[in-house]
Amino acid sequence: MSLRLRHLTTLEHLPRESIERLLDRAVMLRDACAHGTRKLDQLAGRTVLNLFFEPSTRTRTSFELAARRLGADVINFDIGLSSTSKGEELFDTLHTLEAMHLDAIVVRHKQSGTPEELVRHAMSGVSVINAGDGNRAHPTQGLLDVLTIRQHRPDFSKLVVTICGDVEHSRVARSDVHALTALGAKEIRLCGPASLMPAAGELPQCQRFEDFDQAIAGADAVIMLRLQKERMSDTELPDETAYFRHFGLDKRRLAMAAKGCLVMHPGPLNRGIEIASEVADGAQSRILEQVGNGVFVRMAVLSEMLAR
Ligand code: CP
Repeated sequence: MSLRLRHLTTLEHLPRESIERLLDRAVMLRDACAHGTRKLDQLAGRTVLNLFFEPSTRTRTSFELAARRLGADVINFDIGLSSTSKGEELFDTLHTLEAMHLDAIVVRHKQSGTPEELVRHAMSGVSVINAGDGNRAHPTQGLLDVLTIRQHRPDFSKLVVTICGDVEHSRVARSDVHALTALGAKEIRLCGPASLMPAAGELPQCQRFEDFDQAIAGADAVIMLRLQKERMSDTELPDETAYFRHFGLDKRRLAMAAKGCLVMHPGPLNRGIEIASEVADGAQSRILEQVGNGVFVRMAVLSEMLAR
């Protein structure tokens, strides 16, 4: 039976072999395109639509680069200039764009579950890739995060990862936990203020901490999360100075982690709120490596789905 993906909406329940195959393919494509200096033609004649209903710098740009490096045509749908602003409904927009011929839709939406809705409504043969829905999933971010970790710490059975910050609003945290779980990480720790932690019972495979000093002790990788102010009301917003004191990553805290602990953040950064510049730009930071890996992981996903 072929394990080839048709859609990618979440990493939850995706088998380890599928994740490892995508990571291996990302590395193979990175080498084949000579880190982006050589264009491939695997997706010549294919069309990829970037349909982003929320802002994005990294994900949208890297999907575009990934598709172009594989030889595909790319449509960057501009919501602000589109008939969405005249009230056109999502599925009418979908069917209108499909009528122009598409092979894949890369979608970001504030509503959790929108990618699955598109899978149900999309024409047969059109692949849907989730570029982040609500607080639910950001599967390609999860893949690029585990690829970055694997490049430095290949044995996941010994790996202790701490994910700290606004976990409740974070689709990245959920996809990271699903990918790390599938790859057999030894220990996954979640840390944040009680008000920003997921409901009890969600992500039961993780240990929970409210004390960041305890959560980071001995960690091999620490993934800092952005405080997602746009998803909070004024009354929910924590005091930023107090937040940094309790949950911010600086040199003092990083020294409590395992030697050479990888410092990661999906971006965009709130410097001085969840992470100090001294570590974001420091020798242990893998943040820009994550960004670079994003292109190769997205090439791998597009290639697996669309290459003939
Ligand atoms: N990590 C991430 O999703 O960044 P963007 O919002 O810039 O795409």
